[in-house]
Amino acid sequence: MGKHLIFGGVDVIGLAERFGTPLYVTDEQRLRENFRRFRDAFSSVASEIYYAVKANWNLAVLRILAQEGAGADVFSGGELYLARLAGIPASKILFNGNSKSDEELELAALSGVKVSVDSFDELYALSEVARSLGKTVEIAMRVNPDISPETHPKIATGLKESKFGIPYEEVLDAYKEAKKLEATGSVRVKGIHCHIGSQILDVSIFRETTEKMIALVEALSERGIELEFVDLGGGLGIPYKKDEPAPTPEDLAAQILPAFKSAKLRRLPKLILEPGRYIVGNTTILVARVNAVKKAARRFVAIDAGFNLLIRPVLYDAYHEVVVANKMDEPPAETYTVVGPICESGDIIAKDRTLPEVKRGDIIAIFNAGAYGFAMSSQYNGRPRCAEILVNAGKAEVIRRKESFDELLRNQVLPARLL
Ligand code: LLP
Repeated sequence: MGKHLIFGGVDVIGLAERFGTPLYVTDEQRLRENFRRFRDAFSSVASEIYYAVKANWNLAVLRILAQEGAGADVFSGGELYLARLAGIPASKILFNGNSKSDEELELAALSGVKVSVDSFDELYALSEVARSLGKTVEIAMRVNPDISPETHPKIATGLKESKFGIPYEEVLDAYKEAKKLEATGSVRVKGIHCHIGSQILDVSIFRETTEKMIALVEALSERGIELEFVDLGGGLGIPYKKDEPAPTPEDLAAQILPAFKSAKLRRLPKLILEPGRYIVGNTTILVARVNAVKKAARRFVAIDAGFNLLIRPVLYDAYHEVVVANKMDEPPAETYTVVGPICESGDIIAKDRTLPEVKRGDIIAIFNAGAYGFAMSSQYNGRPRCAEILVNAGKAEVIRRKESFDELLRNQVLPARLL
């Protein structure tokens, strides 16, 4: 028997045997460390970390982050519900989104969270909703800063042509409108917000972003509008490849803070950041079993987890490191392509990787699966979703049971005439 992968102090093969595969495994210690490191990097100014709930919305993960003092960036009524349930106070939640329904605006107004307003249209709708409920909603404008980070085009969000935010040149007018609405008591202007994209490895772009955002804050101040917070979003990339150089939270802070601190303002606003991937990405592995090894055009390793559980490789050509978790001490032997069980030829998890000799029954671990992993999973092909396990100090706890076939039927209704 080969050497086993140990993750969070726990033998991964033991976990696979005890809980079955596929299996998501999250390391609590690493989660807490990531959060603290990110928070501390910005502690020289008044700042708050609003974790991006979309990256991983398991309740235990949210609860741990709530204990650490995190706020939350939520992008839907559901994420708001989960963040509140986890104990994140409404005063530390920003409701984001480019397409919020009346119900979501109502929910935001009733729960007392701040709202990032994505368009003039939404500003008027929110004001209307708040007025009818007799509430005052604190708002920030989501700015489209017209910034092009080097990342996959599908996850760049601050480009001029992106669907997110109010065009940079129109932002001052949006605040003017919001100020008019303030008189009705429905909204109160509090901050400004942007998010330029995700998995950003060249963080120098954040200096330019900060400068552009601060220029707006200064221009607003000159017009008598003093903001209480500046939210620069998330986006810090993580190393997915072994030995890939990647920026740290300190590197990010070194780009943001000088520009932020030199703002020509009477009082510096609070700085808010919304990291998702950095906080949860490396906390989690996806563990899968090999169902077949086949030599065809390529040497395929077919495992029991595919894009139903981890869609990033298919959607963004994302690279995730894989290892044979029960053969950690065996030398590389062959080039394999690791594929999932989904009925689509695109269901490839890892292409052309050199691994020790793989056999049916071996266990594959896929690294850095904590951000946008389970969170983007589906039941495609009639596959119930897998369990999630939390490991801490050598102990393992179930934080999500695996789904049964019953869950495939959940909420489905067979009309009586079809019985
Ligand atoms: N704030 C806002 C408004 C966002 O839209 C996002 C991510 C974040 C914060 C967090 O960004 P992060 O720190 O995680 O980069 N599914 C893609 C990533 C989509 C990101 C969407 N927005 C992926 O798997 O790469």
